[in-house]
Amino acid sequence: MACRASALLLLSLVLAALGPVCHATPVNSRDNVPAGYYAAPYYPTPHGGWLASWSESYAKAQQLVSRMTLAEKTNITGGCGIYMGSATELPCVGNTGSANRVGFPQLCLQDSALGVAATDNVTAFPAGITTGATWDKNLIYARGVALGREFRGKGANVYLGPTVGPLGRKPLGGRNWEGFGSDPVLQAVAAAMTIKGVQEQGVIATIKHLVGNEQEMYRMYNPLKPGYSANIDDRTLHEIYLWPFAEGIHAGVGSVMTAYNAVNGSACSQHSYLINGILKDELGFQGFVMSDWLSHISGVDSALAGLDMDMPGDTNVPLFGYSEWKYELTRSVLNGSVPLDRLNDMATRIVAAWYQTGQDKDFPPPNFSSNTKDRDGLLYPAALFSPNGQVNWFVNVQADHYKVARQVAQDAITLLKNNGSLLPLSTSRPLKIFGTDAQVNSDGPNACLNRACDKGTLGMGWGSGIADYPYFDDPITAIRGRTSGVTFYNSDVFPAVPTPTADDVAIVFINSDAGENSFTVEGNHGDRDSAKLAAWHRGDALVKSAAAKYSDVVVVVHTVGPLILEPWIDLPSVKAVLFAHLPGQEAGESLTNVLFGDVSPSGHLPYSITKASTDLPNSVANLKGYAVGQVQDTYSEGLYIDYRYLNKMGIKPRFAFGHGLSYTTFSFSNASIASVTPLTLVPPPRSPKGPTPSFSSAIPPAAEAYYPAGFNRIWRYIYSYLPPDDANAASGVGAAGTKQYAYPSGYSTTQTAGPAAGGDLGGNAALWDVAWTVTLTIDNAGTQFPGRAVAQAYLQYPAGIPYDTPVVQLRDFAKTDALAPGEAATVTLQLTRKDVSVWDVEAQNWVVPGVGGKRYTIWLGEASDALFTACYTDTLTCESGLKSPV
Ligand code: NOJ
Repeated sequence: MACRASALLLLSLVLAALGPVCHATPVNSRDNVPAGYYAAPYYPTPHGGWLASWSESYAKAQQLVSRMTLAEKTNITGGCGIYMGSATELPCVGNTGSANRVGFPQLCLQDSALGVAATDNVTAFPAGITTGATWDKNLIYARGVALGREFRGKGANVYLGPTVGPLGRKPLGGRNWEGFGSDPVLQAVAAAMTIKGVQEQGVIATIKHLVGNEQEMYRMYNPLKPGYSANIDDRTLHEIYLWPFAEGIHAGVGSVMTAYNAVNGSACSQHSYLINGILKDELGFQGFVMSDWLSHISGVDSALAGLDMDMPGDTNVPLFGYSEWKYELTRSVLNGSVPLDRLNDMATRIVAAWYQTGQDKDFPPPNFSSNTKDRDGLLYPAALFSPNGQVNWFVNVQADHYKVARQVAQDAITLLKNNGSLLPLSTSRPLKIFGTDAQVNSDGPNACLNRACDKGTLGMGWGSGIADYPYFDDPITAIRGRTSGVTFYNSDVFPAVPTPTADDVAIVFINSDAGENSFTVEGNHGDRDSAKLAAWHRGDALVKSAAAKYSDVVVVVHTVGPLILEPWIDLPSVKAVLFAHLPGQEAGESLTNVLFGDVSPSGHLPYSITKASTDLPNSVANLKGYAVGQVQDTYSEGLYIDYRYLNKMGIKPRFAFGHGLSYTTFSFSNASIASVTPLTLVPPPRSPKGPTPSFSSAIPPAAEAYYPAGFNRIWRYIYSYLPPDDANAASGVGAAGTKQYAYPSGYSTTQTAGPAAGGDLGGNAALWDVAWTVTLTIDNAGTQFPGRAVAQAYLQYPAGIPYDTPVVQLRDFAKTDALAPGEAATVTLQLTRKDVSVWDVEAQNWVVPGVGGKRYTIWLGEASDALFTACYTDTLTCESGLKSPV
């Protein structure tokens, strides 16, 4: 997005030879966006279909789309309206129009990232943050497979997940828990494994929200105020926030959802640089791009900027039956303002993603309604008068998915502290349990709409990222199932208790909730309120009171993200702390398996826990509050979020990113490094784009888009037809008429060869060349407990390069199976060309700054602050027993 002076002349000269790298025309910041943050125009939308891996689907899509009328094409690119659903036609949170005549159905788009939302007989899986905390690629994939099967079983074509934006830049951010953790590589790996798992079941995954939706407050455009602008510089965008999207595209994701907010002053749903430039050209995205719900604010501009699908179809003031697209898009094509070529590409991208996931073969129709739990209901709930009919078939899609859900919940549990080996507990010790978080919500696990309350055990946050629990395995029931010596005080206020015996163990349950800002819970409007990261319901006081009374205290935390633990973490009687994150339906047995030592805990933190919220920079620690005009959320900390910032500033967190103890200990030995693909400064030239589908360029006759004679219109349902008396349909402006649409500056219709950094799914194919592998042996060095180790590889860039780089950055990880005491496993981690590159804003390419034999250090260890083995890329040697670099 920006052209900046490079410090290194030589590098610039080499790169200059590689072709034009900067935009020729200067781009100015918008409105009150700070200087230096640009949203450059990028036109036209690259046609989809130029990659071999999608060409077969595009060939089929071309055939089908060629047979569609204009109104059919515009029908499949937009939703039919919010809450318009019935089970037979529009049951889902988003429902496109169909082109049934040629065999293309309405598509059902359904939340959420953790389970099929708003219906019954599904699994409520652990949330993304819990999944990230497992650090287990295979398990993340298995969760994706199970999710995909459930979406397919319910007839949902499109899974509205995974969430990788927010990435967790702001610990207070309301939706961080939907994603996998505050690191681009952890997010990226988890997203890619989820996408593979889901799409292999024939369901289209949606990676969301592109990009910068790092806080909930002021995220949306409305007629009175624009959504905030996330101001992100080009390098930070590439190296941090875009990274998971690029990996998701590399994994073949079929759709992308844009974010509510703006980036550098331009709304994401009509951001030509982000959608046309980055997503569809540089990252080679071949699927379709949809708007987030009610964030679509323009008709022609968003089409030209590369949006392919308008969800849920309404204008951003919903329910009146008005749309920026559908009939308006039909009209815009007829009058020549939106090139027919662009509409053909939108439709082809949608149909190609449908073929790419095999949905043309036996995909079941939806068998549920998001709008009612009853068997029968209104077929068009938003209409004034609606027929009634069966809308729910109660299809049970759970199979044995509770197993993978429980495994994720269990293997995510992160042991932060275990003084005197208090854990695992012996079942003979009397247990005193405190805190309402130990027991399921007494009103029922699904009592609060969209889980917008914090009552009972916290299994997930609130908002659209939820699913209904089929049942809730709560901690107290599971604990009682293990031992009879349990006394439960179901209160968050410390009660009067008998004098403890020396044997008593107190287990205190506390939590912290957050969600989407469509709901307010206990004064929190989505984001966690105020600059406090304290446990809810005065949880700190509860822990302190228990710690004053009992000498053996275990704290169990269900949380959306980091908390400040300082009020009690060093109290001598607080011996053990378990972060159980957001376990979904399997909160009980997953916890007791760890508490009582059936398994050792093996989760690791997907974020850092600081000692004070002020340990992080203001731009990250605080939410952006009200401002006249557009709220500006400027990423002035650049690359330095979470552990990257703390390491740079030399601030010791209480518990570092990646930290997690076990009941046993592990030793890392025999580390070795091998060079795999020799690297050049920049990737080799990209592959040229392959052919893309072509269509007739003749604007069809307006009559093709009129309501069919006698058509029975449903009030507020959004159609793509025009009335025959529509003035603009009969005699258009633009191509067909006299007036020209005011195209944005930089607008062009000439397809280009694309940037050097592109060439394949996710970018230049060579970015995934493996540069180095490191192999090491991990021993269970304990004598008593089996356990699973997580090996983490962090990269330190060579000294003296002309780029500022974080001290260390996660690049790969691997989790062992359970190792018996004395047992060893060998793991291999790999670093790709992209992993060892930096994004050079002037070159507009990934540059390997260590080329020419400079020393990269690959640090290996169990946490970002426990890295005691180093492998060097210049000598291809490794050393152990070193001091951790942070
Ligand atoms: C808004 C949310 O931001 C998005 O994640 C969700 O998929 C849609 N609503 C649909 O509910």
